[in-house]
Amino acid sequence: MKICGVSVVLVGAFLISWISFGPVVSHAEPLGMNWGDISRQPLPPEIVVRMLKDNNITRVKLFDTDYNTLKALVGSGIEVMVAAPNELLNRLASSEKAAREWVKQNVTRYTFAGGVNIKYVAIGNEPFLVAYNGTYQNVTYPALLNVQKALADAGYANKIFATVPFNADVLCGPQVPACNVPSGGVFRPDIADLMVDITASLNRTGAPFCLNIYPFLSLALSQDFPIDYAFFGNFSLLDPGSNAVYTNVFDASYDTLVQALDRAGFTSMHIIIGEIGWPTDGDGFATVQLAQKFNNQVMTHLAQKKGTPLRPNQEFDVYLFGLLDENLKSIDPGSFERHWGIFYYDGQPKYPLDFSGQGNLDVFPKAAVGVEYLDQRYCVVNVNAIIDPSILAKNVDYACQRTDCSALQPGGSCYTLDDNTKASYAFNNYYQFNYEDKFACYFDGLAILTSTDPSPSDMQCQFRIGLNYHPTTTSGVRKSGNTLTACVLLILAGLFLLF
Ligand SMILES: *[C@@H]1O[C@H](CO)[C@@H](O)[C@H](O)[C@H]1NC(C)=O
Ligand SMILES: *[C@@H]1O[C@H](CO)[C@@H](O)[C@H](O)[C@H]1NC(C)=O
Ligand SMILES: *[C@@H]1O[C@H](CO)[C@@H](O)[C@H](O)[C@H]1NC(C)=O
Ligand SMILES: *[C@@H]1O[C@H](CO)[C@@H](O)[C@H](O)[C@H]1NC(C)=O
Ligand SMILES: *[C@@H]1O[C@H](CO)[C@@H](O)[C@H](O)[C@H]1NC(C)=O
Ligand SMILES: *[C@@H]1O[C@H](CO)[C@@H](O)[C@H](O)[C@H]1NC(C)=O
Repeated sequence: MKICGVSVVLVGAFLISWISFGPVVSHAEPLGMNWGDISRQPLPPEIVVRMLKDNNITRVKLFDTDYNTLKALVGSGIEVMVAAPNELLNRLASSEKAAREWVKQNVTRYTFAGGVNIKYVAIGNEPFLVAYNGTYQNVTYPALLNVQKALADAGYANKIFATVPFNADVLCGPQVPACNVPSGGVFRPDIADLMVDITASLNRTGAPFCLNIYPFLSLALSQDFPIDYAFFGNFSLLDPGSNAVYTNVFDASYDTLVQALDRAGFTSMHIIIGEIGWPTDGDGFATVQLAQKFNNQVMTHLAQKKGTPLRPNQEFDVYLFGLLDENLKSIDPGSFERHWGIFYYDGQPKYPLDFSGQGNLDVFPKAAVGVEYLDQRYCVVNVNAIIDPSILAKNVDYACQRTDCSALQPGGSCYTLDDNTKASYAFNNYYQFNYEDKFACYFDGLAILTSTDPSPSDMQCQFRIGLNYHPTTTSGVRKSGNTLTACVLLILAGLFLLF
């Protein structure tokens, strides 16, 4: 494959320059995009691939190896990171044979000439998240080794790289007070030896270290976190250990990792930021305005190529999180989880975003083309019915347990509406989730259909029309990123504040 060939040459050159010059060499990679699809009516992969191309996005990170998604990527030239979900780690760790079979069926099957340009295989997703209580602690490393061996045996050494996307909570932790600044960066003590083993095997195979960074969570989950530190340009913090000045928590988190890697002897490890982004609903800080500000600032930061204090003049290698809103994601960490998309569920862009980092705020990303909506029909509360508030509440409950009501939660875009409008919002989402089945708009006789858009005129709370697509996947587990990230960066970021 031509594009694959080119990237292999580049990686080869990169390794050579590592060996000859020792220190970190600037490593230009185009912007990447996380593509998760835990949605009731997911856009067909063909439409998404066209949308990626229309926006010149040439790298994607997936959360599994879904057949239809990979089929749509065939011949696209788009560079892909596929993933073995956490649920598979146990099997991949169990034997070399199991890993070999998985690689054959789910990875190398797609890499024929003119097929899918797979460059990375993610082993799990944030497997050492504190919230998982060690569930994947014993299987991640063996799974990584088995997949590395399977890839090498199949002839893909130096072509496809296995890596592990980690949450930033693999660093520091409350037991390490010195970690309150980047110069104190270490791996989390309970997994430190394991992290060194894993990093050594990544280093040995030429694979990058992959970390997810979430300034939004620092802000949303910590009362004391200064908002300007989550953004770029209006904050500064001196790290007395290095005398470096940090103006944003992104650089600080990045350098905390650089320091942890340096301490363990990995002074030239290539780092990928596997996820970074900002949600637009479901929390007071999750707004379109702040997401637009943050993501554009990230694009500018990447374009400036200034690097971080510990790795100056370096280009970042980043995957934005994420492409589309996902209305079936777990909201355990917060209602914002379903609203990380640069695009809404239907591929419409939310705000102007200049992927090139030149700060041009007149241009929206290019919308998905050829999307099939259901009919222009909404299910709302019949205001002429006799409404018993307790029966209404019971029906809203019923709907919300079966559809997406994250915008109705505190801080959400529909939270401040009156009870009837909120009920309408819930009823309509339930009706759309059920493909506008007329039996899905009854609610004890309290609901009625209308073709008029009931969205309040303030433009915040949007009533939606569903898409005419049924999920095609048969592979069972659909996973997306950061489902349980809630507890994390907070500790790291909160600690920086002591200074
Ligand atoms: C994509 O790249 C092409 C060629 O470089 C350019 O003409 C086009 O304007 C770009 N499109 C977007 C949306 O950036
Ligand atoms: C390939 O991946 C799918 C979905 O993750 C899984 O169900 C299947 O068992 C995998 N194949 C092998 C041989 O592991
Ligand atoms: C982890 O442990 C906590 C406290 O014991 C529990 O509430 C939680 O459900 C556990 N999570 C997982 C993923 O096992
Ligand atoms: C991982 O291995 C350790 C040591 O053998 C053991 O104590 C622990 O229970 C294991 N954890 C899991 C989740 O299997
Ligand atoms: C810094 O704060 C000022 C005043 O609040 C604001 O006008 C400016 O846009 C901010 N700059 C950045 C980069 O956030
Ligand atoms: C990382 O890999 C490089 C290049 O192969 C090697 O020189 C170096 O010793 C490795 N570092 C560690 C700590 O294993």
